[in-house]
Amino acid sequence: MLLVAMVFLLASCKKEEEKEKKANTDLYCEINAGPYAYYSGTPVITEGLGGAHGFMKVRFNSVAQTALDSSGKLPTGSAFPNGSVIVKEVYNSLGGGLQLYAVMKKENWNEYAGSSWLWGEYRPGGEVVFSVAKKGNGCISCHSSPDHRDLTKVFDLH
Ligand code: HEC
Repeated sequence: MLLVAMVFLLASCKKEEEKEKKANTDLYCEINAGPYAYYSGTPVITEGLGGAHGFMKVRFNSVAQTALDSSGKLPTGSAFPNGSVIVKEVYNSLGGGLQLYAVMKKENWNEYAGSSWLWGEYRPGGEVVFSVAKKGNGCISCHSSPDHRDLTKVFDLH
């Protein structure tokens, strides 16, 4: 009986693991699923606001772009639609190499969503640095600081 329970537990852990792995792979694949456009405020590598990451560029997929106004910003008080993907490319320095991708995807129905977004971080080769299964725990508190727009921060920059 105990053995059956243990086998069942192991099998369900394995299933969770597979599900988490797939969710991370899906989000990682979004990084290269264009077309993307860079935020007008970060056309080149730009020094960030001193948050979690240093030098960076931010880009929006086509769904996210539909929410931006003519100045390239999300209007205050509005929200990105489901399917929006925002990628922050993090660099070593102003002229440096790509170090990390920080990714947000609006998918409010997803079981891994934290405050309606999926949150993940990856090395350029795909290694998971911050799993979607954490549901943005460690991201959201900072991203909901004053002046955020639908939990995004880059529009504070300029
Ligand atoms: C200490 C504050 C802080 C934490 C923690 C943080 N961020 Fe950010 N994030 C920022 C700031 C500030 C920006 C605006 C660009 C910049 O200055 O780097 C930003 C920008 C971004 C962007 C571009 C879209 C936007 O919001 O403007 C993504 C994607 C992102 N962060 C993902 C993440 C993920 C994923 C995590 C958690 C693993 C995380 N961030 C944790 C402060 C933070």
